[in-house]
Amino acid sequence: MDKAIQRAEKIMAQINELAAISEESQGITRLFGTSAFLQGSHTLLAWMKAAGLDSRIDNIGNVRGRLPSADSHAKTLVIASHIDTVRNAGKFDGPLGVIMGLDIVTHIIQSRTELPFHIELIAFSDEEGVRYHTTYLGSKVVAGSFETNLLQKKDDAGITLQETIVQMKGDPGQLKTDAIAPEEWLGYFEIHIEQGPVLYERDIPVAIVTAIAGQKRAEISFTGVAGHAGTVPMHMRQDALCCAAAFILETEKLALNHSIVATVGKLQITGAASNTIPGTVTCSLDLRSADEATAAAAYEELYNTCITICSKRNITVRWQLVQQTAPIACDAGLNALLAQAVTECGYPLIEMPCGAGHDAVAVSAVSPVAMLFVRCFKGISHNPEEDVELKDIAAAIKVSDNFIHQLIRSR
Ligand code: GLV
Ligand code: MN
Ligand code: MN
Repeated sequence: MDKAIQRAEKIMAQINELAAISEESQGITRLFGTSAFLQGSHTLLAWMKAAGLDSRIDNIGNVRGRLPSADSHAKTLVIASHIDTVRNAGKFDGPLGVIMGLDIVTHIIQSRTELPFHIELIAFSDEEGVRYHTTYLGSKVVAGSFETNLLQKKDDAGITLQETIVQMKGDPGQLKTDAIAPEEWLGYFEIHIEQGPVLYERDIPVAIVTAIAGQKRAEISFTGVAGHAGTVPMHMRQDALCCAAAFILETEKLALNHSIVATVGKLQITGAASNTIPGTVTCSLDLRSADEATAAAAYEELYNTCITICSKRNITVRWQLVQQTAPIACDAGLNALLAQAVTECGYPLIEMPCGAGHDAVAVSAVSPVAMLFVRCFKGISHNPEEDVELKDIAAAIKVSDNFIHQLIRSR
């Protein structure tokens, strides 16, 4: 059997093993810092140790395994992705890149390849940002850009990030020591499912990422007056949910007009009851574009629209920007090596920008970054239907091996 298919089978088995670790018995949910998350981290730590990597879990919960070069002054190539998930996730978003990284590094060890640079494999602890509504906690620590004010952020249960880190046996005061200094980075390489339909539609197994869209996340609270559903006449209500609904539909309209993407994915009615007029409603907003100016203009227009809707409905609004990242470009030099690898492996060369967020965004502040996309079934992601074929994992293995060998030769 094709060696790459055999390796893909092992990768798939480990992805399935990790997918069985979940907060809920149905589906996959492993939010940052939960007990399922910790169980997943320790499973991965054991695999990294068994592969022969110098392995540990750092203070923000990243699982890290080092394969050193004989040259102690060499720079470091980081191969990484994440192991936290959204709620009711698919099994490939994140784990595919981590476990493929483990396979690639194992292959380097077994083939006794001499490395002119160190390799560090990292499973980032929080890329999705679901628990604290702010992304890249793990990669920000490694890139040295973690803002200490994030430690005071609370999850829906009121637990601060600082408390969660302590619960995970990390030391919030030592996060700085987990950073890789800017001068030590050689580069960053991440394999990830495409999470969109382009490769599936074009029947191509892999693609090279050119850029990653910027995103803004906001939390918006609408406050009206809670009241009795049977007694308050319709024209006298200050219904916070009707106001939020009007805002959500305007968001959809505005995104279509500006050619951006905007999503309200979370909606919370305080004291929800079928016979109570909603008094306070909080929702999330996630707005993205590959063009920063377009995103900024759309965001401002949406804010003004929200104020207008609220004043017409006599609703008070509290709008908080909770995160923003600018669009980033992947490194032209690394992408040229990746393009050569794709061509030498006999696959069509396709390059595309990416709308999803990735840890490469945080890392790009200190290192050149490159990403390889792998086709997923119909482009479905953030959904239990997420699927990847063995033959596409095998294709990504061949391209990645070739890419790493070219990087070795280029040093
Ligand atoms: C992560 O998947 C994101 O793009 O939000
Ligand atoms: Mn991801
Ligand atoms: Mn995701």
